[in-house]
Amino acid sequence: MLDLKRQYDPLHQELLQAVGEVLETQQFILGEPVAAFERAAAGQLGVAHAIGCSSGTDALWLGLAAAGIGPGDGVVTTPFSFFASVSAILRTGATPVLADIYPGTFNLCPAQVESVIDRTPAVPIRAILPVDLYGQCADWTSFARLGREHGLRLIEDAAQAWGAESNGVKAGGFGDIAAFSFYPTKNLSAAGDAGLVTTNSDELAERAKMLRQHGMRRRYYHDAVGWNARLDGMQAAILTVKLKYISGWNDARRSAAERYHALFAATGLAESGLYPTHGIVLPQEVRSTRHIWHQYVIRTGRRDALREFLTSRKIGSEIYYPVPLHMQEALKGLGYHEGSFPEAERAAREVLALPIFPELREDEQETVVAAIAEFLS
Ligand SMILES: Cc1ncc(COP(=O)(O)O)c(C=O)c1O
Repeated sequence: MLDLKRQYDPLHQELLQAVGEVLETQQFILGEPVAAFERAAAGQLGVAHAIGCSSGTDALWLGLAAAGIGPGDGVVTTPFSFFASVSAILRTGATPVLADIYPGTFNLCPAQVESVIDRTPAVPIRAILPVDLYGQCADWTSFARLGREHGLRLIEDAAQAWGAESNGVKAGGFGDIAAFSFYPTKNLSAAGDAGLVTTNSDELAERAKMLRQHGMRRRYYHDAVGWNARLDGMQAAILTVKLKYISGWNDARRSAAERYHALFAATGLAESGLYPTHGIVLPQEVRSTRHIWHQYVIRTGRRDALREFLTSRKIGSEIYYPVPLHMQEALKGLGYHEGSFPEAERAAREVLALPIFPELREDEQETVVAAIAEFLS
């Protein structure tokens, strides 16, 4: 599914040197290595501020908390994402309010969000938290309009979308504040847990910085109850090296996605429309967006059997995500049930992510597509 060693091998001297420099300076937490990464990251994304932190989950929490979201507030988000999109909301004391996805992109559907807001749930809605799922930006034009019309904060979960764009704006630059994850399987990855908050607001940046260090602006004077959510120097140094290569890696992902499209088209199994019948539905890039193909996710009605077949051929695949968030045991308390979000539930039954990473070879893609064609025909 993913061979990180292929990324590491050509970089290993450069990475060892960068880690060695941190060891020499002994600046292990925050300090210059983190500040240098933050400057480079903000420059690359075209945002005013980047604040390094300990994980994508903490970045989401910091973003929400910096934006003043807390107990009594409702935050609308998607039921089809990684758990942290919802758990970070709960961690602030706010209430997640879910709205269904658009089946063509798997991203939160603005029309569904609007109807949830109009139905005025028990908690007043204060924010929307769309996710740029699989590396494709959510419909930020519509969310910006909703935010303006209803006076809502926009929090962007860009954990899977470093380098993705929509209408010339890079992921991380939408909404009030955004969160990235550098978990090792992410397209821009650390050698452990790490994350980043981005924002164009001086005020939110200052609050996020304060909150990542136990609410301290001055050492041992605590202005708010924050958390230890700091980034360490070695992860920052590794990320600074990788920042130089990420644009090329994303281009390679885009080429791999195009190759999958062409190979599947040649099999005659690719179906038009939103849902599969006998074949597969290929993932789509929305016009005016630049997908970075963090995942290449097909839909098929025979997903589980296909996955078993691929495993028997030693071909990796993954299901992101097999259980929608409203049906997770831990989130039963939100009061939803099976049937609450039919699109998310159907996606959870049909999606299958195929291997995609910059170093994936052409012959490997041919093997994947040939195996799928053999199974389906
Ligand atoms: C959409 C999404 N949000 C949040 C996270 C949380 O990031 P982390 O694992 O770095 O805490 C992830 C990554 O796992 C993710 O994919």
